[in-house]
Amino acid sequence: MSTAESFDLDETGKIDLSQIYDRPDPRHYYSTLRRLEYIIPEVAKPVFQSIISTFRRTRDKGRLRILDVGCSYGINAAMLKCDLEMEDLYSFYGPGVVAGAKRHELIVRDRRLIKDLVKDPGLEVVGLDSSEAAIRYATEANLLDAGVNTDLENDAPSPEEARILSGADLVISTGCVGYVSESTIEKILAANAPKKPWMVHFVLRMFPFDAITDTLAKFGYVTEKVETQTFLQRRFATQEERRQVLHRLDGLGIDAGGCEANGWYHAEAFISCPEEDCSSFDLRPLVSM
Ligand SMILES: C[S@@+](CC[C@H](N)C(=O)[O-])C[C@H]1O[C@@H](n2cnc3c(N)ncnc32)[C@H](O)[C@@H]1O
Repeated sequence: MSTAESFDLDETGKIDLSQIYDRPDPRHYYSTLRRLEYIIPEVAKPVFQSIISTFRRTRDKGRLRILDVGCSYGINAAMLKCDLEMEDLYSFYGPGVVAGAKRHELIVRDRRLIKDLVKDPGLEVVGLDSSEAAIRYATEANLLDAGVNTDLENDAPSPEEARILSGADLVISTGCVGYVSESTIEKILAANAPKKPWMVHFVLRMFPFDAITDTLAKFGYVTEKVETQTFLQRRFATQEERRQVLHRLDGLGIDAGGCEANGWYHAEAFISCPEEDCSSFDLRPLVSM
């Protein structure tokens, strides 16, 4: 991969970004995604914040433990704890700021940043990612409070991993469903049982969410899709990627007009709550925001 025009495509028709997920520090991740105008964590943030407020009100609980699935280098953690925008993160890791810095220097800088910028100290964020390097960086830099580096699609969590996955109040994801399926979600539910965390997943329209909705229903959850809008994820890297994704959407019977046809991936937001909680508050205002 040398330019935006020379990405390989994976089997889903998306460009293959696996090589930026597993670097010792996040610089390559941010420089590549900045070129693609990757924005989903920022557009997801107000939805997450709204759910966090509702959860705090409903449960009368200030401190929240969030599990971020496919957390990478702790992007959602940084954004939610410090109320940052993607442009902040792109600048923090951009060549103008950290060119030539050693990994350990970046970690020291990030620890200080998180300490200085934190706006919601009631949030504890733990992460799950199959990338060992990303989890190691995010935990060493204190972006994550704890992390699990495993692939729950193929493996069961160890007892120590299950302990870190447990106790979640809210499970979130951006850009990860597609890599993970109901198999990962089921293991997260098992690790948290009998507690039932709320969930908010942002999912590209090309990846049906039905199987996850069905699995959650078996565990006693109600799932609603935010109906009033779709959420920009990033622009297509190449014409070939655009062509492949439009073809896939067409095969799923999804009209790309006004959305992907304009050159950007669109995600949908799915909010899942245990049935017993849905009786104490109305999901409708959340899904019509
Ligand atoms: C597009 S990135 C999204 C990262 C972050 N959530 C964001 O929005 O910036 C997808 C992430 O999913 C992770 N991933 C891929 N397969 C996974 C799996 N089986 N389990 C957990 N994470 C996985 C990748 O390592 C990568 O960090």
